[in-house]
Amino acid sequence: MSDKNRVVIFDTTLRDGEQSPGATMSHAEKLEIAQLLDEMGVDIIEAGFPIASEGDFAAVSEIARRAQNSVICGLARAQLPDIDRCWEAVKHAKQPRIHTFIGTSPLHRAIPNLDMDQMAERIEQTVTHARNLCDNVQWSPMDATRTEHDYLCRVVEIAIKCGATTINIPDTVGYTAPRESAALIRMLLERVPGADNIIFATHCHNDLGMATANSLAAVEAGARQIECTINGLGERAGNTALEEVVMAMKVRHDIMPFTTGIDTTKIMNLSRRVSQVSGFVVQPNKAIVGKNAFLHESGIHQDGVLKNVETFEIMRPADIGLNENNIAMGKHSGRAALRAKLADLGFEVGDNQLKDIFVRFKALADRKKEVYDEDIVALMQDSAANTDSDHLQVKHLRVVCGSDGQSAALTMVVDGEEQTAETTGDGPVDACFNAVQQIFPHSAVLQLYQVHAVTEGTDAQATVTVRMEEDGRIVTGQAADTDTILASVKAYVGALNRLIVRRAQAGTDDKQITMYSH
Ligand code: KIV
Ligand code: ZN
Repeated sequence: MSDKNRVVIFDTTLRDGEQSPGATMSHAEKLEIAQLLDEMGVDIIEAGFPIASEGDFAAVSEIARRAQNSVICGLARAQLPDIDRCWEAVKHAKQPRIHTFIGTSPLHRAIPNLDMDQMAERIEQTVTHARNLCDNVQWSPMDATRTEHDYLCRVVEIAIKCGATTINIPDTVGYTAPRESAALIRMLLERVPGADNIIFATHCHNDLGMATANSLAAVEAGARQIECTINGLGERAGNTALEEVVMAMKVRHDIMPFTTGIDTTKIMNLSRRVSQVSGFVVQPNKAIVGKNAFLHESGIHQDGVLKNVETFEIMRPADIGLNENNIAMGKHSGRAALRAKLADLGFEVGDNQLKDIFVRFKALADRKKEVYDEDIVALMQDSAANTDSDHLQVKHLRVVCGSDGQSAALTMVVDGEEQTAETTGDGPVDACFNAVQQIFPHSAVLQLYQVHAVTEGTDAQATVTVRMEEDGRIVTGQAADTDTILASVKAYVGALNRLIVRRAQAGTDDKQITMYSH
């Protein structure tokens, strides 16, 4: 296979994905996700927007220092201080990249009130500045798919002349369709002088559900970089999902003969980790990584798959790192078996962490006859999300429910001190949340409360996700337990713990800047 068919995978989970309201990740979580992306073979990691906050700057710098294989990229508006700040963060990488952008469509030009010539000058000045700092510069005309073609050609040509090595064509509002996405890349390749010497990237949003199709169409037309996120995480309907484009090119290599450097067996683990740290649950019927993506419930399908897997399966679960031997563990399983199972599921744990997880595993096995892979993943996610060092901890909960009314008696540890509340509510969950409110008064508004059964059966664990908002800060909490009400309280308290951290970082870590270059 010649290099001309190699597609560069640019992951922006930590920038465009994290930008989606409520998906904020902690510093440690960003480092972990970056390491997993690096190990999976992602060519370029867009690690953040360094000028947006101290937190973003610190994360991009640290990821840059640690990355082994991937190029580390930071985002910058078309302003010299943004570009300088971006360079300060990415320069520590073995392979740094500056990505600078400006909105070029009529609607986006109107906001900074720049006419076409003024904007062209700004592009010349900023791309030249970026290129003087770094050999590897990416430039994006934001809202490219709604930019006049003549103007798009003009500004792309300027960016190339000023030294941009990758030109990204964003479909910022998810407006384009496959035929148009391909035609746009073809048009640029034909009309722009110097287009042969750079890489065109495609960056699609999924507002009309066409992000994957649009990205692949752009590649067929000559784009050689796809910008995407794990699980399609991103603002509104999200970005192109990495797992979808990568698996589409792998499974349909016959009609899309493109290659990537992705080790697809690492997809499932990354999907789970991103879901957990972002608090965005993957819909069960999501392509590739959804819980039902490889399930065959109907008798006809099961029969077919048993006789020949290819009757209803176009790819194997193992291709994305999904363990086909989901053999249940139970209360007699030992520590070595648990360690092996964890390794199988992609979790490398040290001795101390194993000790802690083993205690939790035994407690779960006492309540649940058979502990499946999904249970162990939920257990790991719960133990990562809710730790002994949290400000607020759930100590004891008693709930009364039924036709005679609902009440909760809750004991929590607040910064080392035990506090108790007894409350009522409209249902047991409401009674519990009222008790938390009484112990830890706050003005955060509940935006989302979601319960998912981890496995089948009435003894299944429930994973609860809670999203809350206070003064524009959005936080999520997640917890798992066979007791749905207890999981709900733990998730709610987990979200409050994140809020406490965010409050403490206020002023330094709140992203309040806009995407416009004034
Ligand atoms: O969607 C978009 O236009 C972006 C740019 C900043 C590249 O994310
Ligand atoms: Zn975007």
